[in-house]
Amino acid sequence: EKDGHDWFMRKEIFEQPRAVADSLLGRHARNGLLQLDEMRLSDQELRDIDKIIIIACGTSFYAGLVAKYAIEHWTRVPVEVELASEFRYRDPILDYSTLVVAISQSGETADTLQAIRHARLQRSKVLAICNTNGSTIPRESDAVIYTHAGPEIGVASTKGFLTQLVACYLLALYLAQVKGTRYGDEISEIMHQLEAVPEQISSVLAQAEDVYALARAHVDTKSVLFLGRHAGYPVALEGALKLKELAYIHAEGFAAGELKHGPIALVEEGLPVLCVVPPRGRDQLHEKMISGIQEVRARGARTICLAEEGDTSIEPYADHLIRLPKVPVLLQPLVAVVPLQLFACELATAMGHDVDQPRNLAKSVTVE
Ligand code: M6R
Repeated sequence: EKDGHDWFMRKEIFEQPRAVADSLLGRHARNGLLQLDEMRLSDQELRDIDKIIIIACGTSFYAGLVAKYAIEHWTRVPVEVELASEFRYRDPILDYSTLVVAISQSGETADTLQAIRHARLQRSKVLAICNTNGSTIPRESDAVIYTHAGPEIGVASTKGFLTQLVACYLLALYLAQVKGTRYGDEISEIMHQLEAVPEQISSVLAQAEDVYALARAHVDTKSVLFLGRHAGYPVALEGALKLKELAYIHAEGFAAGELKHGPIALVEEGLPVLCVVPPRGRDQLHEKMISGIQEVRARGARTICLAEEGDTSIEPYADHLIRLPKVPVLLQPLVAVVPLQLFACELATAMGHDVDQPRNLAKSVTVE
């Protein structure tokens, strides 16, 4: 049942090329247009949307943070991302032109369910991004995009997360298509880039042994920091959550630009810092990230950098380098999170923990 793996989690990490491919299947029609069959909102309803609020918990919340970068860039519709448990108990400003997007792998998370009920009472449309057919959250929503990860057994979300990202990209591109903010050929090009991702994830998985050796060298580590910028920032948060839940190690993810506003005080000799380096591009993201890495390294941190192939400028600043395939920055989370999953899984295994059933956690959290 675990396909020869020791844990469901490891099996599910290795299923990700297939899961991502399945989530893309049948979406890109022959005429180049995008189709979302289960989308029960009409094009007119989608055109009327002038604000999106994404609500979710845990890893699904981080998928929502990535979605904000993509949706705002491709559609120009403003997006807020909020933890479901916070949204539920405040007085959010919503109406019929607000689309609430609830992201939940299980479809049964109580905080998220209560949040969508709260939104519907205020006449907002709710779209669920969910992996579990017929679960409560999609049943109580106006529309749904199913992810096609297949059942996720490990408590730590892996393929669930990647397929949520795919669904978020599809939603963003579909909105762009309906609203006319991006043209057909651009949408097709991004779809082609997405269609190349399963192969690219396989190439990351091919480096697993290297990541495992690195993880095993950290069994005595008390604390790990993760840095990212732009779409790499939620990846840093997700990498830290994986370490907390599986290895019970203190781990924190930061936006690299925030370092100087406080967190850099945590850096001391030998502290491992995992850095998600943005692809080199016309923006300044890459340079800014390098200067953040220099800052922590100058204070004794041991830097483990995830950077795209061919990026030699990172080499002087990386104590350890993990190579990522070349992808645009908005899609980079799909490949960058994979080594972090492998790292946490192997480190927890080496520490003797039960990776599939971490202490104090449940797969779906059905209490508020
Ligand atoms: O089923 P959901 O996506 O609603 O679950 C949300 C969180 O409980 C979940 O992502 C949790 O953070 C995972 N254990 C993360 O690995």
